[in-house]
Amino acid sequence: MSDDYLRLRGVSKTFATPAGPLPVLDRIDTAIGRGEFVAVIGPSGCGKSTLFNVLSGLEPPTGGGRVELAGADITGTVGHCAYMPQRDLLMPWRSILDNTVLGLDVQGVPRAAGRRRAAALFEQFGLAGFENAYPAELSGGMRQRAALLRTVVQDREIVALDEPFGALDSLTRTDLQGWLQGVWRRHDWTVLMITHDIREAIYLADRVLVLSPRPARIIRDLAVPLPRPREVRLLTAPEFVALEAELLDLLHSPARR
Ligand SMILES: Nc1ncnc2c1ncn2[C@@H]1O[C@H](COP(=O)(O)OP(=O)(O)OP(=O)(O)O)[C@@H](O)[C@H]1O
Ligand SMILES: [Mg+2]
Repeated sequence: MSDDYLRLRGVSKTFATPAGPLPVLDRIDTAIGRGEFVAVIGPSGCGKSTLFNVLSGLEPPTGGGRVELAGADITGTVGHCAYMPQRDLLMPWRSILDNTVLGLDVQGVPRAAGRRRAAALFEQFGLAGFENAYPAELSGGMRQRAALLRTVVQDREIVALDEPFGALDSLTRTDLQGWLQGVWRRHDWTVLMITHDIREAIYLADRVLVLSPRPARIIRDLAVPLPRPREVRLLTAPEFVALEAELLDLLHSPARR
């Protein structure tokens, strides 16, 4: 595991708004090792999604920050990450199967091969039988699973997930967390995941980056040295609860640093 596979160097972002400049990211510096699972947590509106937009190349940083992959400058370039944005953005006029191959289309995978690859995952995502349904016919949780399927089927080395389980009931959420842990280990992906759920962050991640209120800075880079594979009973282990208390303190103390 190399320490500086993916590196953010002084990444800042200020939006120009009608009310004036809005600073959202403030010199974010971090290095993420190949194969690491990193959770990002912080107050609503602090800049988490903006950080992922910059990381995945969709938004340029302002003020000279850089994104580097294995030493190469990839700032503002797309194609390195499979990115699941916060909103599912399924196209209402395409069937679920055709939605899940969108990312593969963009990569130039032939449609029939892409459909086979995506179709093979439907069972695992609890979507079997809905291949030809349209997004409007699915529940919110099913749409979110379809969006997650569309992201992971791209099989990129870096997977960036913005609240991938946000709209799911807790049982489905726990199942998919277990599933994600399994595929992450099998595929050796480097995963960055935004979550507002402290327990989810600790349960899944090797490290938790805690962001300050806007403009976001990293106020804590917390290692999660818990053994893997992690199982549900870990949630009540004293080591787990201690990490949880530490994060709760950071996120909810009135004078957040
Ligand atoms: N394109 C944009 N133009 C102007 N302001 C923006 C733009 N995108 C985001 N912002 C502002 O940047 C701030 C951070 O937004 P962002 O979506 O990154 O927050 P977040 O941490 O992901 O919040 P949440 O937890 O609610 O998803 C917000 O104040 C938002 O209004
Ligand atoms: Mg967001």
